[in-house]
Amino acid sequence: MNMASVGILFLFFIVIRAQSEGKTFVKVECKTGNVGQYGQQSMLDCVVTTAEEIKDPKILAVAWKKKGSEDNSDKTLLVFHRGETTLQPGYRFAESSWNDRNMNISLLITNTMMVNNGDYKCLVMTDSGDEETETSLRVTAKYNKPTIRSIPEKITRRENVVLSCSSVGGYPEGELRWFDEHNKDWTASSEMEAELTKDGLFKLSSKLSLLKNSIFSKYTCVVFNSSGGKEDEVALEIPDTATSEGQEQRKVSDQSSKIVAPLVVIGSLIVGLLLALLILRWWSQRDHREVPTCESDAEQGGHVETYKECEDGTV
Ligand SMILES: *[C@@H]1O[C@H](CO)[C@@H](O)[C@H](O)[C@H]1NC(C)=O
Ligand SMILES: *[C@@H]1O[C@H](CO)[C@@H](O)[C@H](O)[C@H]1NC(C)=O
Repeated sequence: MNMASVGILFLFFIVIRAQSEGKTFVKVECKTGNVGQYGQQSMLDCVVTTAEEIKDPKILAVAWKKKGSEDNSDKTLLVFHRGETTLQPGYRFAESSWNDRNMNISLLITNTMMVNNGDYKCLVMTDSGDEETETSLRVTAKYNKPTIRSIPEKITRRENVVLSCSSVGGYPEGELRWFDEHNKDWTASSEMEAELTKDGLFKLSSKLSLLKNSIFSKYTCVVFNSSGGKEDEVALEIPDTATSEGQEQRKVSDQSSKIVAPLVVIGSLIVGLLLALLILRWWSQRDHREVPTCESDAEQGGHVETYKECEDGTV
């Protein structure tokens, strides 16, 4: 080995040492567990930290990338290089007037969508070393107030009913549960489906079958998020009037003959009784009446009975 090759080896050694030491001079520290709400701003919170002996560090380049499912499908969202920042719409530095002396390189996502859910890479070059780190964003979306529909639409308790409840716009997958007016849980008798919609959010639908003879007066459909937190609910009241109305109508049509028959009997009894009373009265009046009054009574348009009485009296 001659001196030249020893020299090259030595140099090589120094370069490697410098690089590995450089890594310890510069670090990018990211907050773990970044959470974003669908439709709102979210932040990937990262700062560059340098060893104490480095005074006034300067950032030369920053690149924020969203990791794709494959390594080569990373999408570049923000690049700072040679004093210029290039951004994809909807992304910027969280610090509003960021410059190369600002170690807070947090990325702000202005309107969080489900596509923002996932892993990110952040590359930083400074005048005292380079660093690359990874962080992630977990996007959640709140479920909307559920809606209830019944089939058939009008609940009569003469036929079985299927209640269907649905809630859209949530993430991750949640759950719909059913309760009656006593807060008894009927979820076990229901069937739920979760469907991923185009915007990457879930639509939850649940069907609860009710037997005509065991329908309660109120059903509540509650939507819970993936961690079991209650998000919203909707109640369906089944009014008693609807029930009794239905029952009355049925009685009238089914049992009309049963009701009419006794009515006829009672009615004729009452009519007979009244007739008997009238006849009694007539007899008692006839005993005390004087005959001559009868003609004037008839002219004045008096009672038929009085007229008859007159006729009877004169015959
Ligand atoms: C970085 O800047 C953002 C926006 O000003 C701020 O909300 C965040 O707390 C900062 N991060 C750190 C670690 O200081
Ligand atoms: C679920 O709801 C609870 C209570 O409202 C909330 O604290 C939690 O962050 C929510 N979880 C998700 C994944 O949305």
